[in-house]
Amino acid sequence: MQFSDRIQSVKPSATLTINAKAGELIAQGKDVISLAAGEPDYSPPAWVCEAAHKAIDAGFNGYTPVAGISGLLEAVADYFYRFSNVSATKDMVVVTNGGKQGLYNLMQILLNPGDEVLIPSPYWVSYPDMVALAGGRPVIVPAAPEHGFLLEKDHLEAALTPSCKVLILNSPSNPTGSHYTQSQLDELLEWAVSRGLFVISDEIYDQLVYPPAKPASAAPWLERSQGQIAVVNGLSKSFALTGWRIGYVLSHPGLIKNLIKIQGQSTSNICSIAQKAALAALTGSFDFLETARENFAGRRDKVLEIINSWPGIICPKPDGAFYLFPKVDSFYSEAIPDSTALCTYLLESCGVALVPGVAFGDDRCLRFSYALEEETLLRGVHKVGEALNKL
Ligand SMILES: Cc1ncc(COP(=O)(O)O)c(C=O)c1O
Repeated sequence: MQFSDRIQSVKPSATLTINAKAGELIAQGKDVISLAAGEPDYSPPAWVCEAAHKAIDAGFNGYTPVAGISGLLEAVADYFYRFSNVSATKDMVVVTNGGKQGLYNLMQILLNPGDEVLIPSPYWVSYPDMVALAGGRPVIVPAAPEHGFLLEKDHLEAALTPSCKVLILNSPSNPTGSHYTQSQLDELLEWAVSRGLFVISDEIYDQLVYPPAKPASAAPWLERSQGQIAVVNGLSKSFALTGWRIGYVLSHPGLIKNLIKIQGQSTSNICSIAQKAALAALTGSFDFLETARENFAGRRDKVLEIINSWPGIICPKPDGAFYLFPKVDSFYSEAIPDSTALCTYLLESCGVALVPGVAFGDDRCLRFSYALEEETLLRGVHKVGEALNKL
């Protein structure tokens, strides 16, 4: 069987590789602490699960409109009014199988072969492959740990090519946790719009921004930019519903129609039961997130203090998500030349799983997730420190 050129150009996920290795060690009875998690360690609110139970009991089993049930589309539109003061309508929303499907389908409807996409690095693992799968070419724009992994418009201007059509922004970021203030984001958006670029703003971690930092959104630019913006969000991270596959895209109605067209020819609507749960989530209280934010911010500070005590490390203090992305290349050697080798060494020598920075476009770094219970988290981080000390 000869597989397509398209699939042969896709890289397997580095996150899955490290998790598989960690799983092997656990199966051998080894004590492994995973700091590789990409999902919160708390449970979804009880009323969200209750809404799913009720939907099952009520026999809400059939297909729904591809974009999602009407009440949910309204609830998503209201979300943008509640948090970003943007008046959106139902025809500006499509509910997708996780934020991931929204992003994937955006590349499919925006890119022609050879179109280029500006991707700030470090980037979320899937962006370059999604671009390539749509026939596009990623143009990577590196951001430095010394500058908090944040870019300014001049960096983007320097990387711009005549074939660039799209810019992807992700704030707060996976893997760095770095977060643009509203005025920093506005500056990048103003530049992008003036250059005729379409901006995809991935705001999946928008509820996980730690005071005194405040959330920021590209949504207000939808009106200001003649529709050159799509905001991607969802309930995976904030509501701890990663497995339920609830994402959504906000953009202008003409673009949304095309997203519905492609989704209608691939997956159709997202799970009907998950839609009822999403409706309960978006129309209910967000107060539980206060506790989640306090816990995450506290863990971030403790882990950061330990990491920054290691020699030669640079690790900016991020304002959001639940990741730290220290630059660790001062520990590289002939035997351990890169982030993958360092992760393998750490897993084998002290039983801690981390994700190599190369997966996110920066081979000098490792990604630490602090989405796990504090005692185990700190034990894991101390073990990494001891293992690094032996190098
Ligand atoms: C930056 C970023 N965007 C999008 C996603 C996809 O989220 P979902 O699980 O809703 O598809 C993730 C998940 O890890 C992410 O980290």
